[in-house]
Amino acid sequence: MTELLHQPGFFGTAATFAADATLTVMLIVGLLLTIGAGLAHLHRYTAHLLVQTTAASLNVILVIWMMILPYRDFVLPGIPDRVGERFYAVTTLHAVIGAIALPFGMFVVLRGNELVLGV
Ligand code: HEM
Repeated sequence: MTELLHQPGFFGTAATFAADATLTVMLIVGLLLTIGAGLAHLHRYTAHLLVQTTAASLNVILVIWMMILPYRDFVLPGIPDRVGERFYAVTTLHAVIGAIALPFGMFVVLRGNELVLGV
């Protein structure tokens, strides 16, 4: 599995299989969230709940497995010394925005499924 993840990706760029697979699944997550929003607009709230819960849960798994772990291993050792370099700056900005967005998404899923109380 680890060997496959480090193979060249399928988009013909220098990215690894893991990076291309992450991008593909994230595009599917985006598509699902868009479909889910459409379902709410059509007042199909149960289907909306199922679709958005699936999309947000997939997002959480991907972020922990394919983002937080690589960030910890490959980016964090260069912080703060190399934060002026583009690779470290862009990835860290992405991580900060993602770290704010992720709990919001998780809260909405937990609240929607009545697993936490509203504020
Ligand atoms: C809602 C939250 C987030 C979303 C929607 C998101 C979205 C994405 C997407 C679409 C990619 C794929 C880019 C590509 O492969 O071309 C990506 C990659 C990445 N993200 Fe996030 N992200 C989120 C949160 C985070 C957080 C919290 C961190 C770090 C703490 C992080 C670190 C990374 C890293 C290191 C990569 C590169 C992974 C690799 O290529 O192996 N992300 N993210």
